[in-house]
Amino acid sequence: MNTPTPTPKIQIRDLFKRFDGAALNALEHISLDIAPNEFVTFVGASGCGKSTLLRTIGGLETHTSGELLVDGQPVDGPDIHRAMVFQHYSLYPWMTVGENIRFCRQLAAHTRNRTSSDVEAASGRADALLRLMGLQASEHAWPNQLSGGMQQRVAIARALMGRPGILLMDEPFGALDAQTREVMHDLIRHVHKLEKATVVFVTHDVEEAIYLGGRVVLMAPRPGRIDTVYDVPFGEQRDQDLKHAPEFLALKREILGRIRETAGMKTDLEQLQRLSGALATDSAAA
Ligand SMILES: Nc1ncnc2c1ncn2[C@@H]1O[C@H](COP(=O)(O)OP(=O)(O)OP(=O)(O)O)[C@@H](O)[C@H]1O
Ligand SMILES: [Mg+2]
Repeated sequence: MNTPTPTPKIQIRDLFKRFDGAALNALEHISLDIAPNEFVTFVGASGCGKSTLLRTIGGLETHTSGELLVDGQPVDGPDIHRAMVFQHYSLYPWMTVGENIRFCRQLAAHTRNRTSSDVEAASGRADALLRLMGLQASEHAWPNQLSGGMQQRVAIARALMGRPGILLMDEPFGALDAQTREVMHDLIRHVHKLEKATVVFVTHDVEEAIYLGGRVVLMAPRPGRIDTVYDVPFGEQRDQDLKHAPEFLALKREILGRIRETAGMKTDLEQLQRLSGALATDSAAA
């Protein structure tokens, strides 16, 4: 017996976005379904619209035409159930780790007239997230006392506090060193499994995109569009050794090659030459 296909968590139909005064569309003909509990990663040359698309799903940006549905409903502004995590941790420096994590829920409690059992449940949730993120010992620390990796774990815990159905992440590990990033990769995979959120994750790092994603969506620039969607054939059980497996490296090479092609260059050397040409022109003009 065939299992029915689940209704997509996110449905994007022929979505266009043009910023005021721009000559080109930042997004053009974007169509994609994202299933509940999927982990989809987005890669592509700089300026291809990855952040614009993510922000549009988050309700922080409007689209010019097309359709964007979450749980079958049109997206109309931001929502606590579509939580965002950015490269810069954006923690409140005047609050401790614990206060940062609890903050959004406290706001919700004030606005929605919650009962004391709601408050207790929220406090249990905060404790569970502190444990999940390995932050118990830092609950009373200030953000500036933490490493980048720890600050980002606080930001993720804060995003998870409202039990979001969708977690939108824009280069969340981009500012971290390679070792910390590896730890974060396994942590976010664990969080995804446990929390069952649908994760949409933007990155420049193709290795990260393959290691984390069930699918990798490659976008192309000028205009921003979807070029290729790759199914990642490595199942759910993954460990760091996978990154050295020949099939993994072959997929990484294929995606990197395609990003270069869509950016209009065949090699990194060409990009370097183009950039140094631009620099030489700039200094001649100065
Ligand atoms: N607020 C804005 N106003 C006008 N144009 C914008 C705005 N935000 C983005 N753009 C333009 O939209 C296009 C897509 O930008 P976007 O930031 O989404 O790309 P990206 O793929 O996230 O790039 P990167 O990898 O460098 O982060 C670019 O041409 C950019 O200049
Ligand atoms: Mg971006």
